[in-house]
Amino acid sequence: MHIDPLSHPASDNYKLLSSLVVPRPIAWVSSLNADGVVNLAPFSFFNAVSGNPLYIVISIGLNDAGEMKDTAKNIVAGGEFVVNLVTEELFDAMNISAADFPPDVSELDAANLHAAPSVKIRVPRVAEAQASLECRLHSTQMLGNNTLVIGEVVMFHVADHLLGPRLHVNNFAPIGRLGAPSVYCRTTDRFDAARISYAEWLKGER
Ligand SMILES: Cc1cc2nc3c(=O)[nH]c(=O)nc-3n(C[C@H](O)[C@H](O)[C@H](O)COP(=O)(O)O)c2cc1C
Repeated sequence: MHIDPLSHPASDNYKLLSSLVVPRPIAWVSSLNADGVVNLAPFSFFNAVSGNPLYIVISIGLNDAGEMKDTAKNIVAGGEFVVNLVTEELFDAMNISAADFPPDVSELDAANLHAAPSVKIRVPRVAEAQASLECRLHSTQMLGNNTLVIGEVVMFHVADHLLGPRLHVNNFAPIGRLGAPSVYCRTTDRFDAARISYAEWLKGER
C-alpha cells in the first residue's frame, strides 16, 4: 500500500512515522528553570548523530497551548541539559515524569528521584540513572512545531558495574519506545554478528 502523507491528517502521519521508526531510545532530559527548579521529561525523538565531536539530537514539540515545553524553554535559556538513559527499573519513574506538571513542580520529586551534581554543567543528573550525558547546547532549529535541539556531550556518567576495560558497556538494559501511543520494548533479546568484508562476501565464506 502506498500512503501519501498529503492525503492524511498530520496526527495520523505522526502515528505512522513514530510506529515505523522504532525502537527509539529515550532521552530522559533534566534541565533547570530560572528559579532553579529541576525539570525532567522523556523524549524519544532522540539519537546520537556524531561521534567526533559528540553530538546528540532531541526534537521537542510544542505543548497543547502551542508553547514551547518546559524542557525546550530551559535548554534555550540556559544552554545546558542532561540526557539520562532509561533502564528497566526506571520505567515507572520515567512515565510519571512525562505528565504535564506545572513549571514550579519538579518531576524529580514527583517521581521520587534524586538529583546528583554534574561535573561540567550546572544542571544536575538523575542520581538513580545508570548512565547520563552532560550536554551543552550547540544550536536549535525550528522544524515546523518542533524545536530540534543539538547538544554536545561534555561528560559521560556510567555506573561502574556496566563498564569493562576499553569502555565496553555490558548488561545495560535500556527501554525502547515502539509505536504510538505507548508501546515499549526491552532490549534483552540480543545477538552478536560480526560485519563482513566485501572479500569475504565474494568468497562466500560467511
Ligand atoms: C516515552 C515518551 C517519549 C516522548 N517523546 C517525546 C518527544 O520526542 N517529543 C516531545 O515533544 N514530547 C515527547 N514526549 C512527551 C513529553 O515527555 C511531555 O510532553 C512532557 O510533559 C514534557 O515535559 P516538559 O514540559 O517538562 O518539558 C514523550 C513522552 C513519553 C512518555
